[in-house]
Amino acid sequence: MNIFCTKKAKDMFKRVKGTQDFLDLSLFNFVVSQFKKQMRLYHFDEISTPILEPTELFKRSLGLQTDVVTKEMFIIPSRDEKDDESICLRPEATASFVRAFVENGIQTIPWKVFSYGPMFRYERPQKGRYRQFHQINMEIIGARSIGYDAQLIKMLDRYFHETLTLNNYAVLINFLGCKKDRERYRPVLYAFLEENADKLCKLCLERKEKNIMRVFDCKVETCNELYKNAPKLTNHLCEQCTQEWQQLKDDLDLLAVSYKVDPALVRGLDYYNKTVFVFADESLGSQKEFCGGGRYDQLVKEVGSKEDQPSVGAAIGMERLMLLLEPIKDKLPLEQLPALHVIIPLSENQQQLALLLANELHVHNLCADVLLDGESMKSMMRKANKMGASYCLILGEDEQKEHAVTVKNMVNGQETKMPQSEAVAHLTK
Ligand code: HAM
Repeated sequence: MNIFCTKKAKDMFKRVKGTQDFLDLSLFNFVVSQFKKQMRLYHFDEISTPILEPTELFKRSLGLQTDVVTKEMFIIPSRDEKDDESICLRPEATASFVRAFVENGIQTIPWKVFSYGPMFRYERPQKGRYRQFHQINMEIIGARSIGYDAQLIKMLDRYFHETLTLNNYAVLINFLGCKKDRERYRPVLYAFLEENADKLCKLCLERKEKNIMRVFDCKVETCNELYKNAPKLTNHLCEQCTQEWQQLKDDLDLLAVSYKVDPALVRGLDYYNKTVFVFADESLGSQKEFCGGGRYDQLVKEVGSKEDQPSVGAAIGMERLMLLLEPIKDKLPLEQLPALHVIIPLSENQQQLALLLANELHVHNLCADVLLDGESMKSMMRKANKMGASYCLILGEDEQKEHAVTVKNMVNGQETKMPQSEAVAHLTK
């Protein structure tokens, strides 16, 4: 019996549910590299934080009643009996950035940083929703003015529209006010929900008691209809928040961002206050939000800093963005692969020569591959064709004797025999 493996020898291993293999990263890499370029223009630095974080970090920052914390965390129990700290696979990156800001004693304010990488949430997998997914995450920590929010939204809008040429999405915004505004608003909303309790779905009845603002995330049609007439939080803002809400809209108008106010936009994480926004595209179906963000003015203190640092940030969902870009991929200026040169030794005797010639091409920054598994000339030519070779460099007995190589242009089929020492010059011509 095999004591190391519980799977039967012939069983095929499958991907873990809700994860994906990326076998062609050209689009993914294009999206990331263009984003990096854009971030340089807006003066953000790239950072990297661990995938493993203390579970408590997310409990404290995202909120104990949020779906992510109650149902979706990938928690790894401690292996050390003396150490009861539980760790988890990060479900998002904002809390990690804030931890990094506090733990590393960052003094540069505003701290404008970004990163990209995998996140993990135990959700029910479906199109655009995975258990391991990727985000590009950006934060401006220590940014009091609402002007930062408008600039961030404009930057994302430019990226999606101008760089990635998307034009069917909507920018939805809302304003959640300050803590006091929400305290004042909650009983007003509660009274409305009580009045209409007989029309609410089971989940909304539950949310009404536990995390009342989340009723607006309900997917049930009748609830959504009802909430169109619900009291709006933006009608219950204090004077300063009223001003900031107006400023956000004015700044977005100034920067020519077309947006829509969505009073039902509350976002699923508890750290948000004031500005919240999403970029949504109906063609994605039920998982239509491909980017989301907002302001979080209390999180830095909550994560352990003595001082508050009002902040704002956003995350792009890479898988959803790729779903939008896949159909227009051919129109995007993806990185062009360099021309491929395939070296074909006709027998074992020419293999060392082939290795040397490949090395020569590599030294001169040419892309070269060599076929070493001794197949027939015909099958090697077929393989080179499939690999997309621009040129084949054929080395047979005659070529070896004459220190020559036959270079075949795979586009027009033309063959030229030349001294090996001239091959690089010929190919770089
Ligand atoms: P979020 O809305 O939870 O916000 O996630 C941001 C984006 O990640 C979503 O709009 C979506 O595109 C993508 N996403 C989320 N869950 C999944 C999933 N299971 N499968 C595929 N894509 C997914 C945050 O994570 C905040 N940390 C954003 C932020 C940064 N707010 C301030 N700073």
